[in-house]
Amino acid sequence: MKLKIALLAGDGIGPEVIDQAVKVSDAIAKKFDHQIEWMPALTGAVAIDAVGEPYPDSTHEVCLASDAVLFGAIGHPRFDNDPSAKVRPEQGLLKMRQKLGLFANVRPTFTFPSLIDKSPLKRERIEGTDLVFLRELTGGIYFGERGRKDDGNTAFDTCTYTRSEIQRLAKKGFELAMTRSKKLCCVDKANVLESSRLWRETVQLMEKDYPEVEVAYEFVDAVAMRLVQWPNSYDVLITENLFGDILTDEASVISGSMGLMPSASVGSKIGLFEPIHGSFPQATGKDIANPLATVLSAAMMFEMAFGLHEEGALIRKIVDQSLEEGIVTEDLVEGNDKAYKTSEVGDYLASQIK
Ligand code: IPM
Ligand code: MN
Repeated sequence: MKLKIALLAGDGIGPEVIDQAVKVSDAIAKKFDHQIEWMPALTGAVAIDAVGEPYPDSTHEVCLASDAVLFGAIGHPRFDNDPSAKVRPEQGLLKMRQKLGLFANVRPTFTFPSLIDKSPLKRERIEGTDLVFLRELTGGIYFGERGRKDDGNTAFDTCTYTRSEIQRLAKKGFELAMTRSKKLCCVDKANVLESSRLWRETVQLMEKDYPEVEVAYEFVDAVAMRLVQWPNSYDVLITENLFGDILTDEASVISGSMGLMPSASVGSKIGLFEPIHGSFPQATGKDIANPLATVLSAAMMFEMAFGLHEEGALIRKIVDQSLEEGIVTEDLVEGNDKAYKTSEVGDYLASQIK
């Protein structure tokens, strides 16, 4: 099969972790006789430096010409403490999500048997955790009207949702629940927010179309608590943009390292696959970042963008094997065990695929 993949390495550790996903994908292509055409393009702070904007039209063209986008990370500390910055790397990612129509962000959280004791949470709490967040990605407070008034002394951000935006996300949630344990949790703040009440009302009306799915409605603050208390009681969770942003960072800790969790953003023809971690500026260029979240994002890409399930499963199997063998980066190393470099982990994974 011919696979056209836009390669957006981005900022910070992005290029380093992307390199490993490319090695692994190339090894998969060789083994299964696929032809990958990698189509590199600029995004983030590197794009601001090169052409003055974080998601230039030229990059959008490359994405549109591809079948899937593999993305590294975005963000640079020089923008973080400068509230007056006019352009920010993160705007590139938001613009890309919006322009590509990626309204649903699929963020799984699962545990690896060999890493259970690396999690800051107790084994008995997290064993068996296998949940998926479906985070709405192109609406809510991220894209609402915002600004300043009173000579700059008052600031506002608005959270707006339309019924159809909620329906299309919830539909994916119900469908996903049908392929899993038929349990769906709608996360909102309907005791306070009107937009949340519309979420709840909309999802309630959809229940009759999926009689087999058992739906629970929970407030976001309670979910934040139960997620670390009883993560294995959840299966599919649907929520709005900002709640999903926060809860999925929280959930990633369950697996033992933020460097492990992949994600997919879908909605239109072209999907975007990226690790959920950020650009990790402190580690940039040191060849120490954990590449597994990006490698597992590539696995999701093979499966979801191309329907290549055997390929995705093999990547997952090799990743499990690297964890069992202790071929891991320093975030997963304990005591005097050896820490492998980012590139060494990538080399190992690729060599095992052959
Ligand atoms: C994420 C990130 C982004 C978000 C940032 C970089 C804009 O935190 O993908 O979760 O807030 O959505
Ligand atoms: Mn985030």
